[in-house]
Amino acid sequence: MMIKLDLVTKVYPDGTEAVKEVSFEVEAGELCVLLGPSGCGKTTTMKMINRLIPITGGKIYINGGDSTKMNENELRRNIGYAIQDIGLFPHMTVGQNIGTVPSLKGWPKAERNKRAEELLELVGMNSGEFIDKYPSELSGGQCQRVGVARALGADPPILLMDEPFGAIDPITRVRLQDEFLKIQQDIKKTIIFVTHDIYEAIKMGDKVALMKEGQLVQYDTPANLLYRPKNEFVEDFVGADRALKGLQLIRVKEVMTSSLPTVKADEKAEAARERMEQEGIDWLVVVNDDGKFLGWVGKAELGKGELVKEVMNSSAITVTVNTVLNEALSLMLSSGANNLPVVSKDNRLQGVLSFDIIRKALTEVSQRRQSE
Ligand SMILES: Nc1ncnc2c1ncn2[C@@H]1O[C@H](COP(=O)(O)OP(=O)(O)O)[C@@H](O)[C@H]1O
Ligand SMILES: [Mg+2]
Repeated sequence: MMIKLDLVTKVYPDGTEAVKEVSFEVEAGELCVLLGPSGCGKTTTMKMINRLIPITGGKIYINGGDSTKMNENELRRNIGYAIQDIGLFPHMTVGQNIGTVPSLKGWPKAERNKRAEELLELVGMNSGEFIDKYPSELSGGQCQRVGVARALGADPPILLMDEPFGAIDPITRVRLQDEFLKIQQDIKKTIIFVTHDIYEAIKMGDKVALMKEGQLVQYDTPANLLYRPKNEFVEDFVGADRALKGLQLIRVKEVMTSSLPTVKADEKAEAARERMEQEGIDWLVVVNDDGKFLGWVGKAELGKGELVKEVMNSSAITVTVNTVLNEALSLMLSSGANNLPVVSKDNRLQGVLSFDIIRKALTEVSQRRQSE
């Protein structure tokens, strides 16, 4: 157990009961999402964990210890904190911002700089380019990344993130979510992540704590929240299009076809035609000698040239084995492609995802829901 809330209550001085007897536990290395409508008490709950807000009832344990008995500054230095409006210090460079807590901890300058460089690279920013810039010189998405890097500054075991990707456009947001999940696989922090967005909650959370009017309604895995809602509030909050949302629980690697006929770019178009006939299909994936994905070739184009590379279609959208199915589906719908190649980081072909595969997954998701 890493973080444990036991009947935690917050009554503000004006009498507002913001959090009422909330109990849950977050295991080490888990990402727990606090979810619920605006005003339900998410931020208050989170801020009680690092004592930015004092609790008025119950107890919070950090690694088994009573948080109210810990040194407040020490506690905060061991808990990274990232919030929606970022709160980067405008008069400090990116490097100095990231080094805030390491500096409080007395790390020497060279070590702080090295750490800032590492963290910038970790959040996908070129350290040479950005480390000496000021926040006003960055885009919103870049500021969010720096905010996350700063929260990770002194390598704290616990991270609190309050709508960290809230204020940015949906496309950048999806990218930041994906990058963050990838980072979390390596760093395995214990994380409390606040959002009011059910999609984000399902995507990011190992566990989700759904709150309503200061109370914890259901604390569960994303799948149970979707398929075993405890009551009508959960059901309504989770939404009617549950089957579609269920696609977020499935990753490409679980459903893709991995053996598929290919043709090399240097082969003759005639060879491609023969292979299509053998396989009874009207398109092939084109790869180079190293198995790297290059594009597609369709039966109708074969007559237009002698070699595959002269007639292939090289503009193609790809996914990875870790893409979630609802994102793959929206890529298909927006690009009009019925098939998406699945490629590795170095663009090696790993499989293919088809519209039919997604449709089958969708049917299974709805059936599973009905049978439960
Ligand atoms: N400092 C405060 N004094 C009094 N009431 C507050 C204070 N901060 C928040 N609240 C109230 O507490 C409730 C929970 O707020 P909050 O934790 O910010 O919710 P959320 O983050 O889920 O939107 C709301 O009704 C809010 O108006
Ligand atoms: Mg809030």
